[in-house]
Amino acid sequence: MTRPNVAVLVGSLSARSINQRLSLALQAAGSEFLCFAPVDISYLPLYNRDLDGDLPPAVKRLKKQVEAADGLLLVTPEYNRSVPSVLKNALDWGSRPYGASAWRGKVAAVAGASTGALGTAVAQTHLRTILTHLDILTLPQPELYVKVTDALLSETGDVLSPDFERLLVDFMQRFAAMIGSGRA
Ligand SMILES: Cc1cc2nc3c(=O)[nH]c(=O)nc-3n(C[C@H](O)[C@H](O)[C@H](O)COP(=O)(O)O)c2cc1C
Repeated sequence: MTRPNVAVLVGSLSARSINQRLSLALQAAGSEFLCFAPVDISYLPLYNRDLDGDLPPAVKRLKKQVEAADGLLLVTPEYNRSVPSVLKNALDWGSRPYGASAWRGKVAAVAGASTGALGTAVAQTHLRTILTHLDILTLPQPELYVKVTDALLSETGDVLSPDFERLLVDFMQRFAAMIGSGRA
């Protein structure tokens, strides 16, 4: 059986990103039943509505990747209690021009890693609000608010705790089931 395609967007461009690490760990946890395509959002220009009629090539690429995906995995840091601008910028571009959004009707799983105690809970709440507006249905549970420590994740995204590994596999299994059941 073919595995559903999941486009992966990470809200950090840092080479040392703990969210990139978490995204790798989630992809490894779901690799038996899902197929992942990382989306590079670093080349997107800042959103400008003057370009809605003639989208830049990087935006057209983003929209094609999103449209081809059966599901979306969004892994994000929290910046000043909200969604980092790099991820919001990608969400804004993908929604344009008006009436031709690439996000409409998709399903998504949301996760995030932080060095702080709240583990991106506030940013993810903001993100879910945005995704609902974009007509993206999000996996309700389990929520994945991760405070990264050396005991949880290695620098290459290897999971170092069996409990955490079980949580990631459960998260991806539930997301795969949600993709499989489709949506109205
Ligand atoms: C501009 C900025 C704002 C931040 N704001 C928050 C915040 O509101 N909550 C939080 O838990 N961490 C915050 N942090 C710390 C991030 O959790 C930490 O830098 C994390 O490593 C960023 O994720 P990344 O490693 O994937 O880039 C902030 C970091 C930066 C650079």
